[in-house]
Amino acid sequence: MKIIRVKNYKELSRKAANIISAQVILKPDSVLGLATGSTPEGTYAQLIEWYKKGDIDFSQVKTVNLDEYRGLTKDNPQSYNYFMRKHFFDHVNIKQENINLPDGMAIDPDVECFRYDNVIKEIGEFDLQLLGCGHNGHIGFNEPSNFFAKGTHLVDLSDSTIQANKRFFKTIDDVPRQAYSIGIQTIMLARRILIIISGKDKAQAVKNSFFGPVTPKVPASILQLHRDVVIIADEDALSLCKK
Ligand code: GLP
Repeated sequence: MKIIRVKNYKELSRKAANIISAQVILKPDSVLGLATGSTPEGTYAQLIEWYKKGDIDFSQVKTVNLDEYRGLTKDNPQSYNYFMRKHFFDHVNIKQENINLPDGMAIDPDVECFRYDNVIKEIGEFDLQLLGCGHNGHIGFNEPSNFFAKGTHLVDLSDSTIQANKRFFKTIDDVPRQAYSIGIQTIMLARRILIIISGKDKAQAVKNSFFGPVTPKVPASILQLHRDVVIIADEDALSLCKK
């Protein structure tokens, strides 16, 4: 576990973008596991800037997103599909056929989970998995539980996640109650994991995830067992941890 301590969100975003761009420069056909949420927005913005300067080429990159709300269409501004286009895909030369997300509108959740796991199997090993972290230590939408989920599954969102994500919706009733998420096993099979965490409100999650016991009650704690995990966290997020 390598912890990179940064001053603030801006520095976090640049460092994360540096690691992702190095990955793509060294292996132009990299498979990237990608994340949504407000934390990676700055990272994507930085990658777009470097792409526009001609420093990175995404033409051979393949992406697999972590999760998607159930019941939101791709054109719903709150869907993760929309988020990814708005904050990243529409601004770089990634090929449409190389982009993968769960389909929030799939009729049969079991069929959708099976389909997405097959996409993951076909695409092969993820070179780099980017993650954010929820206040309760969730990664993707793997919520605190009694076990670690292996593959893609439909999740009942926890009250704390619904509360945390309501800021993106008009009212709390508009927040979907369910979402698709890739499993913990899929995340753990990535060659390298990069988790980015910012802000005082995440300090307890950082302490529990990386300095407490490994438990499915804190899903991100499993990352302690991964052989190549890089944590980029700002001073606020690390404020409950010793230097
Ligand atoms: C969401 C996403 C996660 C994300 C988390 C934290 O629920 N499913 O992938 O890491 O929230 O989001 P934020 O970065 O906005 O705090």
